[in-house]
Formats: sequence, structure tokens, C-alpha cells
Amino acid sequence: MDFLTLAQNRYSERFFSPKAVEQEKVERILEAGRIVPTACNYQPQRFYLIRRPEAMDKLKQVTRFHYNAPLVVLVCYDLRTVWTNPGDRYYQNYNSGEQDASIAATTMMYEAEELGVHSVWIRGFDSKTVVDTFGLPEHIVPVMMLALGYPNERAKPNAWHFKRESMEHFVTEL
Ligand SMILES: Cc1cc2nc3c(=O)[nH]c(=O)nc-3n(C[C@H](O)[C@H](O)[C@H](O)COP(=O)(O)O)c2cc1C
Repeated sequence: MDFLTLAQNRYSERFFSPKAVEQEKVERILEAGRIVPTACNYQPQRFYLIRRPEAMDKLKQVTRFHYNAPLVVLVCYDLRTVWTNPGDRYYQNYNSGEQDASIAATTMMYEAEELGVHSVWIRGFDSKTVVDTFGLPEHIVPVMMLALGYPNERAKPNAWHFKRESMEHFVTEL
């Protein structure tokens, strides 16, 4: 399948089966997140795997958007290794951590799709609660969670998936 078709077929999965994602696939997905481009190649992205029962219990305390996925990757960045631009006159104390981590998350999302593993991007959580609940070090900043797994019999895209603006809405020739 070509990449555009893969991207068109992907949708946010909110109906997961309990079937675990095979370790071989987990490793391929993480590899896709490891090798991404990052600002100055500083590689601040960090991945925390949530799949053990104790971690799953904590996950359910911090977000309702887990959809009982068997695997969730909490994607963060490390403030100690992130590229910064303190002189940026638009953003205060700009750092590229969200961009770097989001590139990693997006690449993992499409690698998963290619492997037949469905996903949903989760940002419906409070970052401080995540840090406290999982006991993350203070230099680790949560960006998103990627819920991963196989679809169950109720799986289907919801209405938002089919609602996209026209090309003119997005593109302006300068
Ligand atoms: C930054 C971001 C945050 C999101 N947060 C959530 C979330 O917390 N819960 C959820 O169910 N979906 C979440 N989504 C999924 C979006 O709702 C979804 O991508 C959008 O409605 C388009 O639908 P589709 O992915 O099926 O094409 C998020 C997506 C992005 C990119």
C-alpha cells in the first residue's frame, strides 16, 4: 500500500480488542519513533510503555480516553536535551520538545497502521497528574499518549473522521 492510501485509511480507533500487540511489532513501532528527525538531532523524545496491570491501573486514573487499549505509549520529551531558542521574539523560552515528540508519535502511529495495529492519539489528560501518578522525573514533559491495539467487532471511524476542510482552507500561496 502506498503511503497516501495508508494515511487515508487510518482513523482514530476507540474500540480495542484485548489481544496484546506482539513484541516484535512493538519493537518496530518504537524503532520508527527512535529514528525520527529532531531539532539539532538532540533526540529528546522518550517513550514510556503502559501495558503491565499496575501501569494500566494508573493510566485509568489519569485519562478516560484509554478505550481499554492493551498498550499505550506515553510520549514525552526530556527538558535536559531539548533544543531551545530563548531569543525567539514570538514564543517565550521556545523549545522544540513538542515538535520532536510529535514527529516521533506520528511516525509510530503510521508504522503501527502499516502493521495492522490501530491507534488513537490521546491528549485528554492533565500533564502534572501524569507526572505525579507515574512518578516521572521532573525533567520529563508529557506530550501525548498513543493507544495501540487491534480493533474489536464494534470498531469503526466516528463522524469526525469524515469531516475534513477543503484544500483551499489549508493552503495559501504566498
Ligand atoms: C493533538 C490531538 C489530541 C487528541 N486527543 C484525543 C483525546 O484525548 N481523545 C480522543 O478520543 N481522541 C483524541 N484525538 C483524536 C482526534 O479526535 C481525531 O484525530 C480527529 O477527530 C479526527 O478523526 P480521525 O483521527 O478518526 O481521522 C486527538 C488527536 C490529536 C491530533
